[in-house]
Amino acid sequence: MLYIGVDLGTSAVKMLLMSGDGKIEKIVSKEYPLSFPHPGWSEQKPEDWWEQSMAGLKELTSECDKSQIAGISFGGQMHGLVVLDKDDNVIRPAILWNDGRTTKETEYLNNVIGKDKLSGYTANIAFAGFTAPKILWMKENEPDNFAKIEKIMLPKDYLAYKLSGVHCTDVSDASGMLVFDVKNKCWSKEMMDICGIKESQLAKIFESYEVVGNIKPEIADELGFPKEVKIIAGAGDNAAAAVGTGTVGDGKCNISLGTSGTIFISSKDFVVDDQNALHAFAHSDGHFHLMGCMLSAASCNKWWMEDIIGTSDFKKEQEPITDDKLGENNVFFMPYLMGERSPHNNPDARAVFIGMSMDSTRADMTQAVLEGVCFGIRDSFEVARSQGIKIESTRICGGGAKSPLWKKMMANVLGIPVEVIESEEGPGYGGAILAAVGCGEYASVEEAADKLVKVIDVVKPDAELTAKYEKKYQYFKQLYPTMKPLF
Ligand code: XUL
Repeated sequence: MLYIGVDLGTSAVKMLLMSGDGKIEKIVSKEYPLSFPHPGWSEQKPEDWWEQSMAGLKELTSECDKSQIAGISFGGQMHGLVVLDKDDNVIRPAILWNDGRTTKETEYLNNVIGKDKLSGYTANIAFAGFTAPKILWMKENEPDNFAKIEKIMLPKDYLAYKLSGVHCTDVSDASGMLVFDVKNKCWSKEMMDICGIKESQLAKIFESYEVVGNIKPEIADELGFPKEVKIIAGAGDNAAAAVGTGTVGDGKCNISLGTSGTIFISSKDFVVDDQNALHAFAHSDGHFHLMGCMLSAASCNKWWMEDIIGTSDFKKEQEPITDDKLGENNVFFMPYLMGERSPHNNPDARAVFIGMSMDSTRADMTQAVLEGVCFGIRDSFEVARSQGIKIESTRICGGGAKSPLWKKMMANVLGIPVEVIESEEGPGYGGAILAAVGCGEYASVEEAADKLVKVIDVVKPDAELTAKYEKKYQYFKQLYPTMKPLF
């Protein structure tokens, strides 16, 4: 049978066709615009996601035997607020995970309601990108739109709704709303009251590998798919990527270098870090995870390459950064182009280059950007360590994982081996695996990930280089507290 994984990202929707034995048959990517209507705001039109997903599904399946398609599932950008009215029209553009407009609402939640209460209700505190502060923002700033809300959903759930007609979500993505009681896997009554919403406006909750329904007959006809095609709930992109890299079960780690940068630690038990600096979310394998999220990762490099130095040849720009240059760079980059989530929780933080001299080169600046992202990941890694969590190695995925140089930097900045997976298509591959599990091809997510995900290389840290990077990290660590009053 064939399974489709839909990775609803921030710059594009990527679709992946997988056969039952895990072979990737085809990948199609369709872009859509991202708009920044005010500094720090970030929005997209759900209608664009749908249009491009339908176009992508048609292209993806144009040469395959469509009668073999059994299931579709998702890995979706998390936290985005999608609101529909009583006629199922989208009320306003979706407010995305990297939108920083909710400073006031986030402060209200953390300081007036209080972090202890929030953590008790949901296992998390408020971060500007989470969904609950956005609901409060809408209530305060767009009361007419707020009054029209019939359904609240997350980005990938909009696709599942359009495909199946079921208003559904999954436990991993719901965890990022701050309306979900992660420990008990249900909506939090207290958080619904705080946000002024009713349970009827929220989606039905599923485990990520559960079937929510069949594809709508008219959509099946349009795509030429069988009417029995199942829609499986899917997961937030990081939990889906974790499946796609085999980061399931207990104590495994995955780093994703996409638009955002995340460090994801799987756990069989429910865990919360005592500072709430890491997100304590449900995992798509039926268990839980901790996660740190930086808002700009591969996007820092993309911005530096395309918008600033004006090139699309990322590989060529990295060529002058030879082994002897690693650990020696005096230029540093603070990667806060969209503010920062983990661990600083500061939407007003901004990116900074520091340390240039007359002999600094373009390559030093490029190196600083790549290293700055590794140091940002290290910040969250340190929070996990301070909780007594031992991370012995990590897997890696996302666009940034294509760069051998970036993987080497990461291994040495963290001082742990980085395992490279056959496919770095984390969320899309994870989505397809969840679809295969939902359709009964595998008994569990863990069984499927164990059978299908293959490690093809290990980038080992080098003791001398790790020591050099340790010194650089100690310098980097001082930059944020020093700059904070200026942001
Ligand atoms: C995770 C997060 C990002 C988005 C990116 O908390 O906000 O990783 O999911 O798509």
